[in-house]
Order: sequence, then C-alpha cells, then structure tokens
Amino acid sequence: MNNIVKISPSILSADFSKLGEEIISLDKAGADYIHVDVMDGHFVPNITIGPEVIKKLRPLTKKTFDVHLMIAPVDKYIEQFSNAGADIITFHPEATQNTLGTINLIRKQKKQVGISLKPKSKISLIEKFIDKIDLILIMSVEPGFGGQKFMPEVIDKVKAIKKIISERKLKVDIEIDGGINFENSQLAKDAGANILVSGSTIFRENNGDLKRNINLLRSN
Ligand code: DX5
Ligand code: ZN
Repeated sequence: MNNIVKISPSILSADFSKLGEEIISLDKAGADYIHVDVMDGHFVPNITIGPEVIKKLRPLTKKTFDVHLMIAPVDKYIEQFSNAGADIITFHPEATQNTLGTINLIRKQKKQVGISLKPKSKISLIEKFIDKIDLILIMSVEPGFGGQKFMPEVIDKVKAIKKIISERKLKVDIEIDGGINFENSQLAKDAGANILVSGSTIFRENNGDLKRNINLLRSN
C-alpha cells in the first residue's frame, strides 16, 4: 500500500478484436496495472475471457495483471488463472463456500490476494479477512458490464475500509472499480482509494487518448 495512486485500465472496454494491440497500447500509455474482468455468465450476466486468453496476453507486457474474477465457483480455477499469468487474483466472497480457503489457494500460488465487494455487500462480509489479503476491490457499479453510472453511496464504504486499514496499520490496497471518470476520481482518492479501475473513461474520452486519460485520472 502507498499513497501514489495507481491506474488499472479495464480491458472490458478495449477492442476485443485486437486485444493484444490494446494491451501493448495500455503499457505504452503508462498504465500501472491491467485490469482483466473475467465473467462466466453465471456469477454475472455476461461472459468475457478466460485463462487461455490471459496466457496469450501475458508475454505482451510486464505490467501487473490485476485479474478480477466474477465467476462462481471460483476455487477450481485459481490455479489456471495463476498459471496463465495473473499477478493479483481478486474474487467475490459470494462465489465461494470458504473465503479463507480461497485466500489460501491464491496464497499457495504465490499471487497477491484481492477480495471484491459488490455495491450492496457489507464490509462485515470480509472484515475478519482484512489482515490476510493484499487488496480490497470496492465495486461502484453492479458487476457485469462497463460503461455504467458510478454509485456514489460506495464512497462511505471506501472511507470505512480506509479507517479500518489505517487503525490496524495494515498494508492493504483499496481499489475502486466501476464508473470512475474525471468528475469522481478525486472523490474516490480523497476517500482512500489508491488504485482506480477505469474502462470506458480511459478508452473513450479525448478520442481514446489512453495516455492523456490515464494521466488525468492519476492527477486530477
Ligand atoms: C464491471 C467490471 C469493471 C468495469 C469498469 O463488472 O468489474 O471493471 O469493466 O468499467 P467502467 O470504468 O466503464 O465502469
Ligand atoms: Zn473489474
């Protein structure tokens, strides 16, 4: 955890007909992480990419693959995503029978562990695991699609998590994900988020000027 805000562009908003080129462009544009949204059409009503695609994308960049698993069940795929090249593996507690077990499966792969909270999911769902993980992903949209409207009510959740982490002097990153744009990014940072995920803003604003949009989110 550190105070410099990282930007993790979500490739859900990228051109899937040329995903490799898009990854290289994001790398060159200064992305800190690459946010890979994995959806199975079961945990969320959308289907995206799996470990085989991630394996093909891995050699194209050295940037951290910030893999957001919106899949259930999740345990049986942890090893595949790890072997495919994920660096951070984030799961939803609602997708497992045993949150600690899933944390340990990711740890066993020597990957960073993230837990994601949907907008309506309470902090109490994960508070007892907060000292066992590296990252908390606070969703500011319902999982499943890019381009949705930011849900400002999650800001209080970011502040509450930040307070817990600070009081317990933990090194846990707070990542916010969903509807992040130039108007609300500072609000998210002020609340305590130190990693911003963004898909549609980065790929669509300023005629798709990736470098400009990443810098604007990081600075403004
Ligand atoms: C939604 C995904 C988000 C989404 C962000 O389920 O987890 O990462 O792609 O995209 P924008 O920034 O367009 O909301
Ligand atoms: Zn995501």
